[in-house]
Amino acid sequence: MGVKKQSSCTAIAPSSTANLGPGYDVFGLALDALYDRVRIRRTKADNDKDRITIKMSDSAIPSTPESNSAGLVIKRMAQDFSITDSLDVIVKKGVPAGYGMGSSAASAAAAAVAFAGLYRLKIEKSKLVEYAAEGEMASAGTRHYDNVSASVLGGFIISNITEKGIRFIRMEPPKDLFIVIAVPSISVPSKKTELARSVLPKEVPLRSTVHNISSASTVVAGFALRDVEMIGHGIDGDVIVEPARKQLIPGYDAIKRNAHSAGALAVTISGAGPSMIAFMKGKKGAKKVADAMTAGFMEGGVKCRTFACRPSNGARILA
Ligand code: HSE
Repeated sequence: MGVKKQSSCTAIAPSSTANLGPGYDVFGLALDALYDRVRIRRTKADNDKDRITIKMSDSAIPSTPESNSAGLVIKRMAQDFSITDSLDVIVKKGVPAGYGMGSSAASAAAAAVAFAGLYRLKIEKSKLVEYAAEGEMASAGTRHYDNVSASVLGGFIISNITEKGIRFIRMEPPKDLFIVIAVPSISVPSKKTELARSVLPKEVPLRSTVHNISSASTVVAGFALRDVEMIGHGIDGDVIVEPARKQLIPGYDAIKRNAHSAGALAVTISGAGPSMIAFMKGKKGAKKVADAMTAGFMEGGVKCRTFACRPSNGARILA
């Protein structure tokens, strides 16, 4: 008697923030704010193989497998594991696309976890991150690991990508780390990440590099020592990426000033923006910080939505 095959699997994966100031393309933090949900179902037709059909809850996101972050992940995993079933994929977006909250990464992470769950694949978690990173090709055109690693693994992640190999270092965030994220109500260009990367300097003075290494090390030390103030001090110390990108964020200076005055320990651009993210010790004061960020965006002439949250534990199977 054969093993009864599971017919469907559903997974969720959280929003995330990349960079955390000086950790450009290296740091990621999973955010317990919004989640994408991916359900993968094997279809019955035996004579109908290798077909992946994607149904998106957000019609603005392309649903052909080759241009969809969940689709790319599933195609690659199916190929690697010689799985020829036809699959229906239902993606329910919770993370808004294009705002620097790891939207495509959340779909990709949920897809990788759901696929592994459906076929009960024994895959190392770091390999799951690599599969999920395939999905970033759909939106950013390159494989970034910062958002996907956080979305799959949860917590604070350092992506160590060198010629020696790929390594994801996970650190458990301190219990008293709270976050407020402000998402502006502006339309974003479809190639937003490419645009936000194109404004960055091609060469960086050594003194700026030293400054950012010092700040990034302080962020890591803060996570290791569970010291939220130290984390904040480090996050606020980026002198390379943020100064180049701030022109893309309406009200940037006011948001930063206001949120600091309201008690935030650090305020920075979330990923490639345009959302802004503030870090604080404890939940108390979150509303004040959120209002301060809203007023800052208003100074730039735009409204925003705010979310107060803790770090997330990462992607998981629902059923
Ligand atoms: N680290 C990326 C950037 C974020 O800032 O462009 C998208 O993964």
